[in-house]
Amino acid sequence: MAIIFHEQSKTFHLYNQQISYIFKVLKNGSLGQLYFGKRIHDKECFDELFEMRKRSMAPYTYEGDMLFSLEHIKQEYPGFNHGDLRYPAFTITHENGSTVNEYVYASHSIYQGKKSIEGLPSTYVESDGEATTLEITLHESHTDTDMILYYTIYETYPVICRHVKFMHYGMQSITLDKALSVCLDLPDCNYEMLELTGTWCRERHVEWRKLMHGVQSIYSMRGHSSHQYNPFLVLKRENTDERSGEAYACSLVYSGSFLGQVEVDNHNVTRMTMGIHPDQFEWTLQQGESFVTPEAVLAYSENGMNALSQTYHKLYQSRLARGVWRDKDRPILVNNWEATYMDFTEEKLMNIVHAAKDAGIELFVLDDGWFGKRNDDHAGLGDWFCNMEKLPCGINGLSRKIHEEGMMFGLWIEPEMVNKDSDLYRMHPDWVMNDPEYHCCHGRNQYVLDFSRKEVVDAIYEMLDRILEKADVDYIKWDMNRSMSEVYSNCAPQQGRVVHAYILGVYRLYEMLLKKYPNILFESCSSGGARFDAGMLYYAPQCWCSDDTDAVERMMIQYGTSFAYPISSIGAHVSACPNHQLKRMTPLNTRFNVACFGAFGYEMDLSKLSKEETEEIKQQVIFMKQYRHLIQYGTFYRLVSPFEGNTMAWMVVSSDQKHAIVGYYKILQSVMAPFQRLYLQGLAPDKKYRINTSKEGLYGDELMSCGMVVSDASCGENEEVYNGRNGDFQSRLYVLESEDESDEKI
Ligand code: GLA
Repeated sequence: MAIIFHEQSKTFHLYNQQISYIFKVLKNGSLGQLYFGKRIHDKECFDELFEMRKRSMAPYTYEGDMLFSLEHIKQEYPGFNHGDLRYPAFTITHENGSTVNEYVYASHSIYQGKKSIEGLPSTYVESDGEATTLEITLHESHTDTDMILYYTIYETYPVICRHVKFMHYGMQSITLDKALSVCLDLPDCNYEMLELTGTWCRERHVEWRKLMHGVQSIYSMRGHSSHQYNPFLVLKRENTDERSGEAYACSLVYSGSFLGQVEVDNHNVTRMTMGIHPDQFEWTLQQGESFVTPEAVLAYSENGMNALSQTYHKLYQSRLARGVWRDKDRPILVNNWEATYMDFTEEKLMNIVHAAKDAGIELFVLDDGWFGKRNDDHAGLGDWFCNMEKLPCGINGLSRKIHEEGMMFGLWIEPEMVNKDSDLYRMHPDWVMNDPEYHCCHGRNQYVLDFSRKEVVDAIYEMLDRILEKADVDYIKWDMNRSMSEVYSNCAPQQGRVVHAYILGVYRLYEMLLKKYPNILFESCSSGGARFDAGMLYYAPQCWCSDDTDAVERMMIQYGTSFAYPISSIGAHVSACPNHQLKRMTPLNTRFNVACFGAFGYEMDLSKLSKEETEEIKQQVIFMKQYRHLIQYGTFYRLVSPFEGNTMAWMVVSSDQKHAIVGYYKILQSVMAPFQRLYLQGLAPDKKYRINTSKEGLYGDELMSCGMVVSDASCGENEEVYNGRNGDFQSRLYVLESEDESDEKI
């Protein structure tokens, strides 16, 4: 891994074994993008890639020169209104209203390691040798402002991490109207764009579209990353599939409103940009002030989508997630939400706890309804003290009882919100984000607290701290159940700062809690998965994936989520039947077989199950304890997409390739169906694997090239008797163990 600067041609080459990223200082002092992709040889100059032509109507930078036009040059971090007429990465307005800016290369430095970004989540290194960083300073002399572009390349990952800092020294202020994190100009437009899209209960469905001239974008203007679009997008070649072909991706390490945009210009150059959404954003810098953007992680794969996802999985699992839980097997939990909703007593809860304990479950999570006057969603948010009518022993008493049972205790909170019927609102109505001159929309009867204000965040921290000081809490589910509508702060220096400052407040509260309570495992949540983003993973290594707990729906949701996020981060629970969201009946084993590919748990009243169900759940817990490390931290492969047909399959393989688990799922049953094979991936070709304790092992090469036969009775005249598992919504897990004598069993 290296970052080379070729003095003569002023070319930067960032490379590791897998990728090269090349750009140069152009003759006007701005930065021109030359190449990002598979690693290539280094050399002094790549100017042959730098193409210019005379093109009518283009603005040219120099008199007498009809070649140098920023409109046609591929750039690193372009502005607007000074030659380039495409969508820019930044726009800055001066005090006199001018938006012309000319940032010119001033200096650079290259160093081992990677610095953290003040107040924002980011990928990191554990030792400086893991990565090299390039900082390039460009200077705008009229406004006296520096723009520092940061690039980090890791030794082992095909990624470039980028962010930007503006430092203003001038006497007159400047205003950032747009400050994205990243821009990548690619030389052609033969790509399909993948996005993860949906809504509540249908998060992160996978959609593709062929790029067209003009702009295609994904975004959130909701104040959180959203159910609708995820801050992640991929550009892949048409023939790229899970196993082969080229793909580029961009993931934003940020949890607020964002814009991800791909513009294809009329000469077929593709410009991908991502960052804080420029609408509702306006940040003025006075002399001596600075602004830093969130980090964006660009990745490249020449081996298809699985390899691309594995890059993000490994990087985010080990160098974005932090803390004591980062590498640990995630506790098997039971959450009382779908079991009781807010209608619970201590006795009801303890019944669930006892049943959970008997089943071997490790963590009990008390969801919404334990605080203030919270019996439905009209009251209580903001009053973070125990409702003693419901829980006479308090949270500390309940947590003690649960620990006495040998289980861990977890608690749900929604710190960013308030109900009008709460002591907090009665005391501080102005803490709600809203323009007091106007009527304010509610969402789920609740209002957004103004987390851009320090005193609001501090007050919430104090309330939570009072609980956590007394009660032994091992886990927190941090929820956020509405989008922002009237963004207005009653005391912000500038309203255009509020949406971003809010997220900085959220990050600060996380940081304060983690600092004082480093052993707590955080799970983020936002009406299910409306804040499943890389920013959150820095604080909470797992995230509740969706409020839809139906096994079939979850196949799509979890499959889509796996494009960007590791299995250890995907909160997934077995819930009751009929399912609460769809009223669908699915077999218990299928509910497990889907949920076990995640940070696993239950979301049902375990005290009300039949004997058979209780026994089955005990076996599931035993299985999960045995294999969770492999599932949560192994190398994950998508095999068959649920978006393309009636079946889905995925698998995980241990890093030593001795163990693997395959999940195979069939949505609707059929008859006289074709024979079925699954082409496995990631196995050692020369190892023989026993499948579900079969006597005879099969070689990895056979399983990958000939396929593993998964045909069942439906391939003929199905004569099976219905047994609750062999109709619709069937699934199977295959455990593969290497036969080698020397290979230990898990
Ligand atoms: C959100 C969460 C659920 C549950 C409820 C409680 O919808 O996604 O899991 O915690 O809030 O109100």
